[in-house]
Amino acid sequence: MELTVHTSTPYKIVIERGCLSRTGEFAAELFPAGTHAVVVTDTNIAPLYASKISESLKQAGFKPKVFKFEAGEKSKCMPTIENMYGAFARAGITRSDFIVALGGGVTGDMAGFAAATWLRGVKFIQIPTSLLAQIDSSIGGKTAIDISAGKNLVGAFHQPALVLIDANTLATLPKYFFADGMGEAIKHGCIKSRSLFDRIKNTDIRSDIDGFIAENLKIKRAAVEKDEFDHGERMLLNFGHTFGHALEKLHGYGVLSHGRAVGIGMVMMAKCGEKAGLTKAGTSDEIAQVLSKYGLPTSDSTDIDKIVGTAMLDKKARGSAINLVMLKQIGESFLYPADRNKLAELTEALK
Ligand SMILES: NC(=O)c1ccc[n+]([C@@H]2O[C@H](COP(=O)([O-])OP(=O)(O)OC[C@H]3O[C@@H](n4cnc5c(N)ncnc54)[C@H](O)[C@@H]3O)[C@@H](O)[C@H]2O)c1
Repeated sequence: MELTVHTSTPYKIVIERGCLSRTGEFAAELFPAGTHAVVVTDTNIAPLYASKISESLKQAGFKPKVFKFEAGEKSKCMPTIENMYGAFARAGITRSDFIVALGGGVTGDMAGFAAATWLRGVKFIQIPTSLLAQIDSSIGGKTAIDISAGKNLVGAFHQPALVLIDANTLATLPKYFFADGMGEAIKHGCIKSRSLFDRIKNTDIRSDIDGFIAENLKIKRAAVEKDEFDHGERMLLNFGHTFGHALEKLHGYGVLSHGRAVGIGMVMMAKCGEKAGLTKAGTSDEIAQVLSKYGLPTSDSTDIDKIVGTAMLDKKARGSAINLVMLKQIGESFLYPADRNKLAELTEALK
């Protein structure tokens, strides 16, 4: 199955079992033989898939090198990027060469950011291997790293040249991270599609995982195509992220995973909406029930005032206001600008 994303630079998403071993073939549609490439990956994924990709690239006439970093969110920071730049320099990456991001969202965000900034921008291919990356982070061109002041605070918009999704890789993804990806899928249902939400709630999504990935990507693609640079429609994808990012930061990056934090953030925001009469009653319970089905947490004991303070530092805060994403009901979302006082008032519901 193939989808095209119509952004400022359009690109193809291939969803096909085994496509990972055909990376060279797909890359040859975009780059001439002899081109250099650096495959960026982490220490968990390198032994599983890096040589397959390298072999396929070599067979197609490319000159690949592999750069790996210590797996985990803690690595999504400037020192890793600095090392990556060093690897690009050693591999002789010029503006006509390319980068391959092989891994989860951490790899995609970092390799994408390094590709966006190396020589002011080189092309990159996304080969997402986690569910989260396959349904969400590998498309849309948001790249970023975390700094001590907050998550994803330094980044760039840089669309990939191609996305290759091979769901066979999910066989090696630890259950913990599969569940984490479900957090973002539940979010897609919450903001845009009651039918996706019901699919997650009532069926075994593994029975047609390719179709499930495509359904999620169509929701993300629609938001990205309408609003590539995140000024309106695309912000709806941040449902659960205002509190989620704050929780990730307060727990320490890599301690509370992204999907879990977003899940808790969604329940919190729905509760606030219900109390304020903005969200249909019972919505937060329904979200919590589906999160529990996938073993995801639905609440957190961190002091709410601490969470609000941290959320106000979030990069989505515009001046003194913050753009909250609220639900009218499952499948229908809207933006709700709030200043610190309004946010404090809304979060009374959580005390
Ligand atoms: N750019 C975006 O639009 C966007 C959207 C959502 C999330 N994100 C970012 O994505 C990151 C989270 O992504 P993630 O959960 O994929 O994290 P991750 O990249 O750290 O992957 C999670 C873990 O699974 C392992 N893994 C991944 N695929 C595997 C496989 N097939 N087999 C075995 N192990 C595998 C990784 O090594 C890692 O230990 C966060 O940093 C978040 O900010 C970005």
